[in-house]
Amino acid sequence: MRTLRDIPEMRATLDDSHRRGQRIALVPTMGNLHDGHLALVAAARDRAEVVVATIFVNPMQFGPNEDLDAYPRTLADDQQKLEASGCDLLFTPTTATVYPRQLEAQTRVSVPGVSEGLCGGNRPGHFDGVATVVTMLFNLVQPDLAFFGQKDYQQLAVIRRLVEDLHFPIEIVGIPIVRAEDGLALSSRNGYLDDDQRARAPALYRTLRELADRLEAGAGRDDILAQGLARLAESGLDPDYLELRATDLGPVSETTDRAVLLAAVRLGSTRLIDNIPLTLPRQGDDDTRS
Ligand code: PAF
Repeated sequence: MRTLRDIPEMRATLDDSHRRGQRIALVPTMGNLHDGHLALVAAARDRAEVVVATIFVNPMQFGPNEDLDAYPRTLADDQQKLEASGCDLLFTPTTATVYPRQLEAQTRVSVPGVSEGLCGGNRPGHFDGVATVVTMLFNLVQPDLAFFGQKDYQQLAVIRRLVEDLHFPIEIVGIPIVRAEDGLALSSRNGYLDDDQRARAPALYRTLRELADRLEAGAGRDDILAQGLARLAESGLDPDYLELRATDLGPVSETTDRAVLLAAVRLGSTRLIDNIPLTLPRQGDDDTRS
């Protein structure tokens, strides 16, 4: 696996693959790789002749009081994992390469609608940062496919929309959440949890699972969400939101069948997110079970 830091070198390296019509898969990451990231690389390896991973801790997607400086940077370890997973090329540019101007003066990509509310409500500007850097990576690498985890459900929806709106000829592939044995969704931010917080964190998935099962069985939505918020708080998780949305993140209506239950919670200074897709019974089928 080659590791490249500069744009001209990276473009020149991929030129040959583009000319030969090889399928190129992109796996954008911020590093500190875990099995969730490696599942993206494995899926990319199955679908493409050239797998390009990127590691860039993108300052534009962090708010002023967020963990940009503390975000774990583990390049040597990440390189080994990527190489062992069959990645061909790692692009890991510096901030000055990606953003040659001050961040405030930089062109931005904004995806209205789908980036509002949920995490977008709690993290203003976050999805503009994600959309901008992902657009830039699409432009630099010009992949045929790009792989993202479903844990960041809203991020995936934002990226699907920007690909549609900006007419990128790129297939976006969402890969299911990889979980620890106790159900906690793998995330680089889990590393911030102390032992006591780590022991409490799986309550997020347990609660979502139980609520999703009850919703699928026909329980009343408003009651379930209210009970869920109380349950999360009782488990020592401070909820930012708990919401039921249609799979495109639009509101759930009487005719919605495919939905997703999403939550973000705070555990000390760490923010955890998770989600579970579910099938709602048709309204009127049986709603006596709340
Ligand atoms: O999901 C992430 O790791 C980041 O948001 C991404 C997509 C690499 C953009 O910086």
